[in-house]
This record gives sequence, C-alpha cells and structure tokens, in this order.
Amino acid sequence: MRVLVVGSGGREHALVWSIAASPLATEIFCVPGNPGIAEDAECAPIDVLDIEGIVDYALKQRIDLVVVGPEASLAAGLVDALEAEGILAFGPSKAAAEIESSKGYMKDLCARIGVPTAAYQRFTDADKAAAYIREQGAPIVVKADGLAAGKGVVVAESVDEAIAAVDAAMRDESFGAAGAEVVVEACLVGEEVSFFALCDGEHAMPFASAQDHKRAFDGDKGPNTGGMGAYSPAPVMTDEMAEHVLTTIVQPVLDAMRAEGRPFKGVLFAGLMITENGPEVIEFNCRFGDPEIQAILPRLRSDFLPALVVAAEGGLKHFDLRWRDVSSMTVVMATKGYPVKYENGSEIRGISDADAIPGVTVFHAGTKLEGDKMLAHGGRVLCVTAMGDTLQIAHDLAYQGIDAIDWPEGFCRTDIGWRALD
Ligand code: AMP
Ligand code: GLY
Repeated sequence: MRVLVVGSGGREHALVWSIAASPLATEIFCVPGNPGIAEDAECAPIDVLDIEGIVDYALKQRIDLVVVGPEASLAAGLVDALEAEGILAFGPSKAAAEIESSKGYMKDLCARIGVPTAAYQRFTDADKAAAYIREQGAPIVVKADGLAAGKGVVVAESVDEAIAAVDAAMRDESFGAAGAEVVVEACLVGEEVSFFALCDGEHAMPFASAQDHKRAFDGDKGPNTGGMGAYSPAPVMTDEMAEHVLTTIVQPVLDAMRAEGRPFKGVLFAGLMITENGPEVIEFNCRFGDPEIQAILPRLRSDFLPALVVAAEGGLKHFDLRWRDVSSMTVVMATKGYPVKYENGSEIRGISDADAIPGVTVFHAGTKLEGDKMLAHGGRVLCVTAMGDTLQIAHDLAYQGIDAIDWPEGFCRTDIGWRALD
C-alpha cells in the first residue's frame, strides 16, 4: 500500500514509524513532515490546511490510504475532499469532527443522550456568561467553543479569573472566531486519563489508554500545554473501566452521531476524569493524542496499518489487535519559554546517541535540518520514548535518552509518570 500521513509533529512521526514497520506498506509519504519523519517517508512541503494541494498530491502519488493527524485538517474538511476523489482516508468528516471543533455541539450531544459530563451553559454574550459565573462561584471552567490549539480552556480558581477568561475570548477575541461563543462548566475533580477507540462509523474498538501531563512544569504547575509527556497503559483504565467507558460513553456517542447522519470514523479520543461518580467526559477529540500516541504505538504488537484501513473502510466489529505486555513512556523536550514565548533555531546534538540506547526511540516534533545541524523549530521539539517491562524501567530509559541529548536551550519535565510510580 502507498500511504500518506498528514502532519508534522511528534504524533505524525510516531504514526509514520509504526506504519513503516508494516510489511503491507510499500511506500510512505508525509506532508509536510519533519526531519525525523523524512527518515521513513518521502516528505513534501504542503501545508496541513492546503486541502486542494493535499488531494492533488495524493492523486499524483496514487495513494491507497491517507492518515490525517491534526484536528485542524479534519475540521477543514480534508477527509470529505479526499473521499470525493475516491481516496480512502482515516479520520472523520468535517461534520463528525465537530465533536472536537465545537465544544457546544459536544456538550449538547452528551446532555441529550445522557453521557456523563460536567454541568454547563453556552454563551454568546459576555455579560450573561459573567453573571452565570458569579452565580455558580469558583472553581469553574471557561472554554472557547472552537479550536484554539489547546489554549482555549481556563480552569479558574476564582470568579475574577473566570470572568477574565470570558473577556479574553469574547471581548479581546484572543482566539478569533473560536472564542465568539464560550462554554462555562463545572470543575471536575479526579484523575485524568486519555482513552482511545478506533471507530468505523458504526462499531468502536477500544484501542489503548494513556495518561498525559498537560502542565508545563514539574508538580503539575505552570501553564497548560499540548502535553509534556505521557505513559501507557494508564493503570486507572482497567479492563472493566475500559468496557464501562466503551458501553456508556463511546458507543452511545457513535450511535447518536450515526443517527444524525454524521457517522464518526477514525479515532475517538475521550479525555476523561475518573470522578467519585465514575468516568466523566472532559472533552472529545477527533484524532490521536499528541504525545499520547507516541507512548501507545511502541506497545502495539499487531500490524497498525490494517487497523487503520479497517477503521476507514468499515468492519471493525470483526477486528482485533494484540498488545505487548510492557509499559511505555514518552518525555517531551520543549524549547525554553514554551508554551508562552520561545525562539527557534537553537542547535540540538546527541539525538542519535539517545536513539542508540536499546529500547529508546526519539520522535521529532519540531525540528529543522540546516546543513548537517539539527535545529529546534517549534515549542515541543522532541519526544524521547522508551519501553520496558515495568513503567519504572521505561521511565529510567526515557530519562537516559534525555540525558544523552545535548540541548541547553531545551527543557523537559522531570516527573513524567509520577502518579503511577512510587
Ligand atoms: P481541554 O482543552 O478541553 O483538553 O482542557 C484542557 C485541560 O483543562 C484538561 O485536560 C483538564 O485538565 C482541564 N479541564 C477541562 N475541563 C475541565 C473540567 N470541567 N474540570 C476540570 N478540569 C478541566
Ligand atoms: N495531549 C492532548 C491532546 O493531544 O489533545
């Protein structure tokens, strides 16, 4: 098969790396890709939002399957455009991607079908949102309705902070059109876990669980980021819990979306809070988590490519995957200053030394090759990933990999996995 992966981050490097291990993959392409991905795939400089450009490229390269990484491409209708040309694609249509791209749609859907999620109200008027916040009190959560690259959510400790978040979204338009509407919701308390299910529009197959670390600094301090590290599996997600999530959360959502005429295909990523009352949905995403998938894929024993094909074509009901009985961890190295303000262009050395450690794989998230120098080119730059019989072993190996990398302008959290490690 000729496979095209869309995206340029650590997630897409892990996807390409995993697909490259498939005997069914004859040629792999990636747009726009990155220097790490270029070792396994032919990269072309086409933007993830250039729908026409990607479709033309897929036709020209006679692609059999397109795997779409970023939510922005899905929300822009890339899968619809590919399917209109008869190209098989892994990922939801634009309408189905609204499960992530409109928090209001997602909340209304959950409320309508009784899927547990935080109590909420939607607002298009900042004064009304502020009045509701004063009435409810803090802590309280304010979310921009649309896609805001992980920055649209404020978990406010005070009423003033929550109202400032409403003002930032609605009056200052910090997120552009994505903040014209906000959702204000109750603050859930518990342990957070990411749950992934492959979906073919009708059937869902549990894929894997992982735990992310969203805050920038050790001890879960500092600003929210796209994710600073992850491990898989997440011990809170027992087989029983996974079955419960599948039958009470994932399948009802799938059934409802199919009934609405927007069947969900691809991967449904449920961000869950395991509360006293059981799992509740914090958010749904319509794509693989980054960096969760970097931790998950090394554990997959089965060939990944057929799973992607079957999810895209239908037939998951009779499909199964096998996993290695190991733990995996990925630690993100980011440019100092991320997620607020940082500079590109610092030199990174030692990536191949880290990669040479048995059990360690370095995924590139934001790098650029200039001559023979590897430069940082983004906030999250590398994902140092390791597997081991226990999470402790995976942890120790991943941090050995970090130690092998010489990059003074970078930083990482030193406590990835703390909840699951003694
Ligand atoms: P999101 O962008 O929806 O993933 O939200 C970012 C982060 O904010 C989540 O991973 C949670 O840690 C936190 N969060 C979002 N909604 C809630 C909520 N209702 N209660 C508590 N924490 C939340
Ligand atoms: N790591 C969280 C996300 O991909 O949204």
